[in-house]
Amino acid sequence: MSQKDRYAVIGNPIEHSKSPWIHAKFAEQTDELIQYGRILGPLDGFTREVKAFIASGGRGMNVTVPFKLEAYALADSLSPRAAAGAVNTLAFGPDGVCGDNTDGVGLVRDIEVNLGVSLKGARVLLLGAGGAARGVVLPIFDRAPAALTIVNRTAAKAHQLVDQFARDAAESGVRFSGGGADSVEAGQYDVIVNATAGSLDAALPEPDCEDTAFGAGTLAYDMMYGAQPTVFMQHAEKLGARAADGLGMLVEQAAESFFIWRGVRPDGGAVLRELRQMLAAKT
Ligand code: ATR
Repeated sequence: MSQKDRYAVIGNPIEHSKSPWIHAKFAEQTDELIQYGRILGPLDGFTREVKAFIASGGRGMNVTVPFKLEAYALADSLSPRAAAGAVNTLAFGPDGVCGDNTDGVGLVRDIEVNLGVSLKGARVLLLGAGGAARGVVLPIFDRAPAALTIVNRTAAKAHQLVDQFARDAAESGVRFSGGGADSVEAGQYDVIVNATAGSLDAALPEPDCEDTAFGAGTLAYDMMYGAQPTVFMQHAEKLGARAADGLGMLVEQAAESFFIWRGVRPDGGAVLRELRQMLAAKT
């Protein structure tokens, strides 16, 4: 029997990770021989665990909270997508440890392919300025929106991101600004992405985003997901917007990691539909 190549997701906590299920589906779909497990990384022992996995023949890893910055530091080489400072995908090969970040591409693919909303020429509002927000800025620029506004509870962190990516924005021809609540531009946005950790405590992101930013032509996208729509999604729907959770981003970032490792692109949409049905059946 052929030997299966080994992969794993590492995080803390990790028991609820859906990545092993998603990658098993991709392997089935593409006839790739892989085995994909989950590893609980000790908070003070991330590098040790990764090295042990490599030594035991591991070929690649997904990295989740709270290790994405440590994965960035550990990598011997980085893709341009990881240059924003966080790594969620490691590939182990003759050239050492290669770090990449597929989160942003996952978000963009979910919005454009699965939800059918083009970012080209769109006005986009990004709520939050932490690691999750930072990782999606460049992939959003790549889709040539007209404007990107970043709003954060702590305005200074949004200003930092605007400074960090100002040159990329200019090169992509994107109007780019940010700060606190008063940075929200007048009128409806086409896409509003919640990249704050607010949904974790079932709270609306602060500062309260202007209600006028939401409308019938708005896609309100929460990077979080759960069995029920998040508070942010419910708020957006009340204001007439279409709302989506981050389950599709989870599947699409996994699909991009699978492609990095195997050179084969799985069909994320099909796996997303199955995962969604499975979650609905559990409630
Ligand atoms: P992540 O890697 O998930 O982005 P992070 O880097 O800690 O995590 O960033 C969390 C983000 O969520 C930040 O933008 C944070 O705002 P602050 O910079 O003001 O701390 C935001 N955040 C967390 N809880 C929030 C809440 N209840 N309402 C609004 N924003 C919140």
